[in-house]
Amino acid sequence: MTEATRFTIFGSTGDLTYRKLLPALYQLEARGLLASGLTITCVGRKPLTAVTYVATARPWIEKGSRFRVDPEIFARFEARFRYVEMEITQVEDYDLLVDESEGDHLYYFAVAPAYFEPIARNLKEAGVLNQGTHRVILEKPFGEDETHARHLNTVLTDIFGESNLYRIDHYLGKEMIQNILAIRFANRLFEGIWNRNFIKEIQITAAETIGVENRGPYYEKAGAIQDMVQNHLLQLLSYVLMDPPTSRSEEAIQRQQSDIIRSLSVTEMVLGQYSANGELKGYREESKVDPQSVTETFVALKLGSSHEKFIGVPIYLRTGKRLDQKATTITVLFKTPSSPLFDNLKSHQEMLIIKIQPDEGIYFRFNAKKPGTDQTINPVMMNFCQSCIYENRINTPEAYERLLGDALRHDKTLFTGWDMVELTWQFASALSAFKTKHGVMLQLYPANTDGPQAAQDLLHHTGSTWIRSDITEEAYAL
Ligand SMILES: NC(=O)c1ccc[n+]([C@@H]2O[C@H](COP(=O)([O-])OP(=O)(O)OC[C@H]3O[C@@H](n4cnc5c(N)ncnc54)[C@H](OP(=O)(O)O)[C@@H]3O)[C@@H](O)[C@H]2O)c1
Repeated sequence: MTEATRFTIFGSTGDLTYRKLLPALYQLEARGLLASGLTITCVGRKPLTAVTYVATARPWIEKGSRFRVDPEIFARFEARFRYVEMEITQVEDYDLLVDESEGDHLYYFAVAPAYFEPIARNLKEAGVLNQGTHRVILEKPFGEDETHARHLNTVLTDIFGESNLYRIDHYLGKEMIQNILAIRFANRLFEGIWNRNFIKEIQITAAETIGVENRGPYYEKAGAIQDMVQNHLLQLLSYVLMDPPTSRSEEAIQRQQSDIIRSLSVTEMVLGQYSANGELKGYREESKVDPQSVTETFVALKLGSSHEKFIGVPIYLRTGKRLDQKATTITVLFKTPSSPLFDNLKSHQEMLIIKIQPDEGIYFRFNAKKPGTDQTINPVMMNFCQSCIYENRINTPEAYERLLGDALRHDKTLFTGWDMVELTWQFASALSAFKTKHGVMLQLYPANTDGPQAAQDLLHHTGSTWIRSDITEEAYAL
C-alpha cells in the first residue's frame, strides 16, 4: 500500500479547512506523520498563491493547533503547499490537477454535498483519475436528503469504488467515543448490567452555547436534525446500545451499529428555535437566515428500541444551539433496587455519565450509607477526568488529526460505511414523517437557557429530568 503523495482540498478557503483541517495537518507534520513526499494542493476560486494562501491560513493554524507553531516545522509544512485557482464546476479547469505520477491521491471534499457529484465527474472527465490511485474523504452531510444520498452514493461508487470512499463523521475520531467500547466491553461490571433489567433510561445530550454563527445558509437547510441527530447522535447511540462486535474491523463494528439504528422508533419529539435574549440575537436575526425561518435549532426525542436487551427502556436524545451549557454527555440511569434495609433509596439515582466533550471522563454515582447509626443512604461518586490525567502526558490527538492520519494510512476503521449512512438517512426521513403526522410545532426558547419547556415535560411525565453535565461537579456531603 503506497503512502498518499498528494492531498487535495476542495473548499480550501472555507471554515472547515481553516479551523479544522489545516491545524490537524500541521499537528500530523509536527508529529512526523506526513510522508516526506506528500504535497498539499489547495483548490479555491479566490485569486491566491501558495504563499498568500499559507499566510492567510497561518493564524488559523496557530489558533487551532494543540502545539505551539515551531518555525522550522512550519517551514517544512509550508513547502508542501500548492494553490490552484479554479472553479470547481468547470471541467476545463481540472487540467490543472492532472498528475501523471503513479502516486496515491487523496481528495478532501470540504464543500457542500451539492458539489460532490460535479467534482467527482469533473475529476473523471478531465482525466485526473487516469494515473495512480484515487481516494476521497467526504464531509458530512453525505447528501442533502435520503434520495440525494442514494444517488450520490451510486455516482461516487461508480467513479471511485466503495473501498476508496472515506465518509467522515469527526465524532468517531473523538477519544471518549472510542472509549465507550472499552468501558462497555472491557469491564464485566458494566456489560453485565447493560440491559433492560438494570437500565431505567438513557439520555444523550449534545448542547452548544454558540449560535449558528456564519453558517446560516447551511444551517437553514440542515437544522438540528440533520446537523446533529442524523449523524453524531445516532453514532453515539449505536455505540451505547450495540452488541459486542466480533472484531475491530469497520465491517464488524458497523454491522452491530446498523442493527441498533434499525431497531429504533420515535415516540415523542420537541422542536425548538432560539429567540433573542438580552445581547444575544435570536436565530431569525442571524446573518443569512430567513427572518421567518422555521428551521429547528433544538430537538429533543424520546425513542424506543426493539433490540431484545432494550425493549421498554426510554431513550432520550437532545441537542441544541444557544443553550446555557456546552456539553456532550451520555447518561445511563439505573433502576432503583428495592431493599427493606434502607428508607430513602428511591430518591438517589445510580447513574453513569460518559463525558465526551469539552470535559472528557466518566462519572459514576452510586449509593453508600451515611456514617452513623441510622440507615440513611447518600449518593457518592467516582469522577474520572480523562482529560486531566492524560492531557499533558500523551497529547491525545484531536478528532480530525486522528481521522486524517488514519485516511493517509489507508485505515478506514473510523469512517462510515454506506449501510450506516443509508440507515441514518432513513431515520431522518422517519423523523420528518413523524413531525408531519403529529403536527409537531416549533417552540421558541430564549438564547442561553435550557431549551423549550416542552423538552423538560417530555421527561417529567415519566418522573424523570434531564441530567445536566454539571451534576458531576456537585459534592455529596456524607
Ligand atoms: N465548518 C464546520 O465546522 C463543518 C463541520 C462539519 C462538516 N462541515 C461540512 O463541510 C463542508 C464545508 O463547510 P464549511 O463550513 O467549510 O463551508 P464554507 O465556509 O461555506 O466553505 C465552503 C468552501 O467551498 C468553496 N466553494 C463553494 N462553492 C464553490 C465553487 N462554485 N467553486 C469553488 N469553490 C467553491 C468556498 O470557496 P469560496 O471561499 O471561494 O467561497 C469555500 O472554500 C459542508 O458540507 C459542511 O456541512 C463543516
